[in-house]
Amino acid sequence: MDRDAWDRRHRERDSLWHLDPNRFLVPEVEGLTPGRALDLAAGAGRNAVWLATRGWSVTGVDWSEVALDRAQRLAEHHAVEVEWILADLREWQPPPALFDLVVIIHLQPPGAERARTWGKAAAAVAPGGRLIVIGHDAANLTEGWGGPQDPANLYTAQEVVDTIGGDLEVVRAERVLRREEAEDGVHHAVDNIVVAVRR
Ligand SMILES: C[S@@+](CC[C@H](N)C(=O)[O-])C[C@H]1O[C@@H](n2cnc3c(N)ncnc32)[C@H](O)[C@@H]1O
Repeated sequence: MDRDAWDRRHRERDSLWHLDPNRFLVPEVEGLTPGRALDLAAGAGRNAVWLATRGWSVTGVDWSEVALDRAQRLAEHHAVEVEWILADLREWQPPPALFDLVVIIHLQPPGAERARTWGKAAAAVAPGGRLIVIGHDAANLTEGWGGPQDPANLYTAQEVVDTIGGDLEVVRAERVLRREEAEDGVHHAVDNIVVAVRR
């Protein structure tokens, strides 16, 4: 999806003021001491704002102006400050080794593009910091529900490991099931999560 398509999609969504961070992110972060966090493809800010309410100093990056406008309003609603950067991740370069936490959640561009972003994200992790990548798994197409329907936009945890494993130490890489309730009943989407640290 291009930038205009993302603007349209964000515009169509209802604005929600309650915090709804990604369910797999929450337990990974809860035990950590807050520091500087970078949220790549921050969207309407649910994860970045949640992190800020937990004491993190957060920078959120997205190329959708509509999304970041909503994200800023969400931050104001929860009385936290987040630095928002409107940028295309294919071009934007994060400062190296600065962040105690870097998260990428449900960013699903095709192969080489996502690998470059994961590489940049890994390089932005400070010593002692961690990278968390959560996304729609390749198996979701046949075993899951919803999500992107073009296999080019899906990947495996192993693909993330192969990209960033030389730089960071991978401590978790696996598929996870996301239970969703829809009008036609309960479904399970197949996601994956990779957590890696810079020792
Ligand atoms: C599925 S949403 C996920 C948003 C957020 N991470 C979350 O979990 O709610 C994907 C986001 O990636 C952003 N995005 C896609 N390609 C991008 C790019 N090249 N540069 C910056 N943002 C991008 C879209 O604008 C969209 O907000």
